[in-house]
Amino acid sequence: MPTVVDRGLEGVVVGSTELSNVEGAIGRLTYRGYDIDDLAPNATFEEIVHLLLYGELPNRHQLDALKRELASCRSLPEPLVTAMQNVPKTAWPMEVLRTVVSGLGLFSPVNAHGEHLSDVHTAIELIAKMPTIVAGWDRIRRGLDPIDARADLSQAGNFLYMRSGKMPHAIEEDALDTYLVLLADHSFNASTFAARVAASTRADIYASVTAALATLQGDLHGGAATAAFRTLAEVRSPENAEPYVRDILDRGQRIMGMGHREYKVRDPRAKHLEAIATELAGHVGGNERWYETAHAVEEASRKVLQEKKPGNTIYANVDFYTAPVLADLGIPGDEFTCLFACGRIVGWAGHILEQLADNRLIRPQATYDGPTTVPFVPIDKRSSNGTTG
Ligand code: ACO
Repeated sequence: MPTVVDRGLEGVVVGSTELSNVEGAIGRLTYRGYDIDDLAPNATFEEIVHLLLYGELPNRHQLDALKRELASCRSLPEPLVTAMQNVPKTAWPMEVLRTVVSGLGLFSPVNAHGEHLSDVHTAIELIAKMPTIVAGWDRIRRGLDPIDARADLSQAGNFLYMRSGKMPHAIEEDALDTYLVLLADHSFNASTFAARVAASTRADIYASVTAALATLQGDLHGGAATAAFRTLAEVRSPENAEPYVRDILDRGQRIMGMGHREYKVRDPRAKHLEAIATELAGHVGGNERWYETAHAVEEASRKVLQEKKPGNTIYANVDFYTAPVLADLGIPGDEFTCLFACGRIVGWAGHILEQLADNRLIRPQATYDGPTTVPFVPIDKRSSNGTTG
């Protein structure tokens, strides 16, 4: 009987986790049993860090201790700031983030075998430092000096402050905070799986997070947030949504930020992001109509796809309403995937620690489709055009 190949591992169970649960058929997402619908409006990002890394929501004392630890390790080693200042200004923010996160390993202590410690405190340090890298590169590429982190601000508030040098409005800080809560974990998605594969070889947390960042970059995963923004920038206003969508689908292309491997209904995170996008649009005002345009693109996608492929419905995923939220916060479109990473680092770290606590090397199989039993030909007897004989 021929071996069944599960391309894309669709529906294949490759491990177990206590961190989060995606119930794709009903559109429910829980972190350690807590529904995202309860967490998004009520819990801060720092509380989610505690929940995912320590297994429970913190009491006030635990939360204060965690906030102090995050605040104490936000700054970057000076040589890495200098390195960022020497990077071509055209470098893509995700490339810079991936490279500098990898570089953080160079400055972390090692044991007698030259190995870095991969524990909850290293995880917290990475969570603290990633927004500093993103905000720092944002300023450096604009020809500005990075701004020192402030210990009295939340992760979200401090990021906005480090980018602009101004104290964020409470609506903006809350919007980014909720965004980070919503992005914190999502079971065995591609980047988290990559992190677990790397950790399963006993690679350290810096290496494993670097693998996750590399995997998040593509536009079938976290890169879709940036791609969704490009869509909004091209559509510009709600009236253009339907012709744009028709053109894309006629050409057999995809609407970025729509569709999901696991969710057969609307991604439960999308409604929270849509609500934030609506609030931010009212707060920001101005001529840009990111939220209205996004809403029109989602409606048009559903309508046109129903006409073209009746019964095939696609819904907005988490990346779609990320675009109007982050655009209205003034963040450039090519940084959106970095912001995704600043939230998902919590899940990556939690999964890496979970993998290490009960490790088994992840090493699947493949069928072999190449030639078999090819006789070896010495180099002088191989033909000049590369073929043998
Ligand atoms: N636009 C138009 N059609 C789509 C879209 C889309 N965004 N997504 C899926 N479809 C269609 C496909 O063309 C396919 O149609 P067919 O059966 O007639 O060929 C059908 O829906 C199923 O698509 P698959 O690619 O088989 O589904 P898969 O589970 O592999 O795809 C994916 C999931 C990759 C997310 C897909 O929906 C997609 O490419 N979306 C756009 C990129 C995106 O938003 N990625 C972010 C995902 S969320 C995250 O990673 C955080």
